[in-house]
Amino acid sequence: MSIKFSEKFAAKYVSQNDIEALESKAIEAMNTLVNGSGEGSDYLGWLELPKNFDKTEFDEIKKAAEYIKNNADVLIVIGIGGSYLGARAVIEGIKSENYNLLKKDTPNIYFIGNSISPESLNDIVELCEGKDICVNVISKSGTTTEPAIAFRVFRELVNKKYSKEEAAKRIFCTTDKNKGTLKELSLREGYKTFVVPDDVGGRYSVLTAVGLLPIAVAGINIDALMKGADDARKELCDDSSKDNDMLRYAIVRNALYNSGKKLECFVSYEPSMAMFNEWLKQLFAESEGKDGKGLFPVSCIFSTDLHSLGQFIQECGAPLMFETVVKFNNVDNDYIIREEEGNIDGLNFLSGEKMSTVNEKARLGTLLAHTEGGVANLVIEAEKLDEYNLGYLIYFFEKACAVSGYILGINPFNQPGVESYKKNMFALLGKPGYEKEKEGLEKELGL
Ligand code: PA5
Repeated sequence: MSIKFSEKFAAKYVSQNDIEALESKAIEAMNTLVNGSGEGSDYLGWLELPKNFDKTEFDEIKKAAEYIKNNADVLIVIGIGGSYLGARAVIEGIKSENYNLLKKDTPNIYFIGNSISPESLNDIVELCEGKDICVNVISKSGTTTEPAIAFRVFRELVNKKYSKEEAAKRIFCTTDKNKGTLKELSLREGYKTFVVPDDVGGRYSVLTAVGLLPIAVAGINIDALMKGADDARKELCDDSSKDNDMLRYAIVRNALYNSGKKLECFVSYEPSMAMFNEWLKQLFAESEGKDGKGLFPVSCIFSTDLHSLGQFIQECGAPLMFETVVKFNNVDNDYIIREEEGNIDGLNFLSGEKMSTVNEKARLGTLLAHTEGGVANLVIEAEKLDEYNLGYLIYFFEKACAVSGYILGINPFNQPGVESYKKNMFALLGKPGYEKEKEGLEKELGL
């Protein structure tokens, strides 16, 4: 197995008995998932996706990515939630959190339509001035307000800048195969479309065109990404937690939840993984947070956050939370700390040391300190931060999350709670059909 899980530093809080007590429930949950006999089973397309993905579309994605690379300085990716987090997580994880600032032969990639902030929209419009642009709008439903507003803006921008024919070539829509506003618009305007499969929900869609097109534009090897996910698909099936680290992770995190923990903190020691943490937060929060159940996912980048949140975790974290640390064993681009004459900063004890070694000692020191402070640490280890391992990790977490959802007894594939704010927002904006709600809400707000 490419990824290794260890609960060694949670042993004080989760005993072998706790694990054994959950084992049969977890195996049942995994079987429910794999047999498609649980709630939400219409959304299991992601399970076999790394093997069954549409190979013709995959080639089309590569072609479109080449076109964008050859014709644009900037790719605007419009989408929210599952329609952008996965792509951004992989691009930043593999390339850098500073991807857009790097010297490179691929376009800058700006993500927009993931908020309703005019400031942030205007910033991106400004960044596009004088640049050749392409747009990839991603929305399964085709009707989500945030990306719809941004798409209106960038459609206009592309239409003003290029001829009608040229503009149509520069807009790529990733949406439902047959229906929805975006599909209709694409047919009318002649935009190239890619498909969000019916049976894959937003937060499980990173390995479809949703994630793959922007990822490929960034020059990332999507074959290796899919290979990692496919190896995970093949390897993470065993119905014994001794031989299946995904199952063991699902069991241990649920045992910690049963022992009263409320939060799972996803930790990485690589700043480029900050967006992967965001992707994890959506995956787990939208999947598990139902019926008053579920762990609230939070995240940290260490050592950065050891200088802000570390105090709280060390001294007050114990009753509340545990940490799940994703660790990479090797780095490609290390830095050797140099000897300095005079040793004014007192750092010569580190001369000749790799920075990755210092990072690892920080990790080990924190592991011991936080465990000592009562915060259980789960460790997920990968060989390195590359396409293959990230693909593997994506599948590992998707499956662990779905299995966890069934252990909890909820439907991990719906998100009914996401609708409540939308209903209120539409009513307050005066959208036709919401007149009655508007009156009540305005009264409540004292407007
Ligand atoms: O995971 C999900 O289903 C959601 O986060 C959606 O991805 C998000 O709400 C965007 O939806 P859509 O792609 O329909 O615009």
